[in-house]
Amino acid sequence: MSIVEEISKRRTFGIISHPDAGKTTLTEKLLLFGGAIKTAGAVKSNKITQHAKSDFMEIEKQRGISVATSVMGFEYKGRKINLLDTPGHQDFAEDTYRTLTAVDSVVLVIDCVKGVEIQTEKLMEVCRMRNTPVIVFINKLDREGQDPYDLLDEVEEKLNIRVKPLSWPISMGKTFKGVYNIYQNYLLLFQPSKRSLQDDVIDIRDIKDPLVDKTIGENYARQLREDVELIEGVYPEFDVNEYLSGEVAPVFFGSAVNNFGVRELLDAFIEIAPPPRERATEERVIKPDEDAFSGFIFKIHANMDPKHRNRIAFLRVCSGKFERNAPYLHVRQDKNVKFSNTTAFMAQDKEIIDEAFPGDIVGLYDTGNLKIGDTLSQGEKGMYKGIPSFSPEIFREVINKDAMKTKQLEKGLVQLMEEGVAQLFTYEMGARKVIGTVGALQFEVIQHRLKHEYGATCDFVGLSLYKACWISSKNKKKLDEFVKSKYRHIAQDKDGKLVFMAETRAWLQMVQDNFPDIEFHFTSEF
Ligand code: G4P
Repeated sequence: MSIVEEISKRRTFGIISHPDAGKTTLTEKLLLFGGAIKTAGAVKSNKITQHAKSDFMEIEKQRGISVATSVMGFEYKGRKINLLDTPGHQDFAEDTYRTLTAVDSVVLVIDCVKGVEIQTEKLMEVCRMRNTPVIVFINKLDREGQDPYDLLDEVEEKLNIRVKPLSWPISMGKTFKGVYNIYQNYLLLFQPSKRSLQDDVIDIRDIKDPLVDKTIGENYARQLREDVELIEGVYPEFDVNEYLSGEVAPVFFGSAVNNFGVRELLDAFIEIAPPPRERATEERVIKPDEDAFSGFIFKIHANMDPKHRNRIAFLRVCSGKFERNAPYLHVRQDKNVKFSNTTAFMAQDKEIIDEAFPGDIVGLYDTGNLKIGDTLSQGEKGMYKGIPSFSPEIFREVINKDAMKTKQLEKGLVQLMEEGVAQLFTYEMGARKVIGTVGALQFEVIQHRLKHEYGATCDFVGLSLYKACWISSKNKKKLDEFVKSKYRHIAQDKDGKLVFMAETRAWLQMVQDNFPDIEFHFTSEF
């Protein structure tokens, strides 16, 4: 098969949702329909269960599970589908944000009872940064949920994207009858079943067909006709290009736990979701079908065995063909590297692979050379862009508790930050080290791992900081002046970029007003 054919076969995507909306269930059902697993229950939820929330040993175990199910590959109707899993727990949101840089599209799951929730909004903001195409799956239609029109309005308002329903529910909850597929004109009848993968499909060319009345009853048929007429009047016709450019999200309705609407979603997905596309490095835009291999690291996972410091780096192939044992340029370090231990992820089995194509994810065993954001290439120098850090929300200063282990502490901190566990900011003044995270859980993880893997002990002192803002200015002199005048509040991130540590929102606003030449950014890439 030629490289162009390999690329056009591939669909690499992620499922995102607020916890409990049904991401794990939908993942499992997609794998069932795709034939990658045979029975339900095979995919372990990687979410940290309620009782384990403060138990970091449990979290460590969960990390083990999540690496096994991090990337799931399967074939469906001639396509090679790579599904990238994202952590379910909010405290690991930064990990999810980075995984989203490695996908070409996203399926967003919304619970029809709860509607758009806070985590959904945050995740969508990240999708919007790269105009990632999004398909919305409104789940749990077997429950009494919100009115579908209200749900769609909420998606448009809160997620700042236009929607186009491609299917429409016929009632909901106890009286849920099924959905009408507006895109391809068929009725999909609901039969609650956690086991059957058979769909009850009735083809109808025309919504006026009396078969509709016969099948779902006159009242529901009348309501459906009114709804479809209204939808066609309100929402413009579906334009796949608007979906591909991230402007419009097609919407499907279903019930993942009942296998309902899942095949419909998968069939639409393989038809409209994009194959791997071009991506920008600092120097130019690289097309996937270029001969030379290139790719970037978006995730690093520490080995579970603390005695060995091996790590698995997740490489997204962007162009050309990746080959095991071939020498590639590690762009940041400007040196050649070779990987003999390379893993593909097919469902839960890890297997050694010899080659991979754009869209594929390869696990590379690494002893500490790679960090998140690194580019590998066949000689070309530009680094891939688009793996930003986001301003953390919780900040704590690191206090070394054992002066004899200072070196171990520093090494441990650097390595954990390279894995993306949290972000480290070093103040210009006094070289104070501050760790920033999205959730409180990471501090326990960090403390635990520093002790067990590096033999270092530390304490954390809470700091009341509002945001870390990366700063820049077109006027170098003004930037220098700013840094001088706010010296006590300036730190450097792991790459040495300047960061302004804002204490409160109001104060940040005041500083912004007083220094109009300085730009303040909430992400490290701007
Ligand atoms: P998540 O990964 O997004 O966090 O959600 P997950 O799939 O774990 O689903 C959360 C809960 O919602 C689960 O119930 C799951 O069974 C249920 N669920 C998923 N899809 C549907 C659906 O279509 N209809 C209904 N009614 N429920 C659905 P749980 O009680 O937390 O777990 P379990 O004991 O059922 O596994």
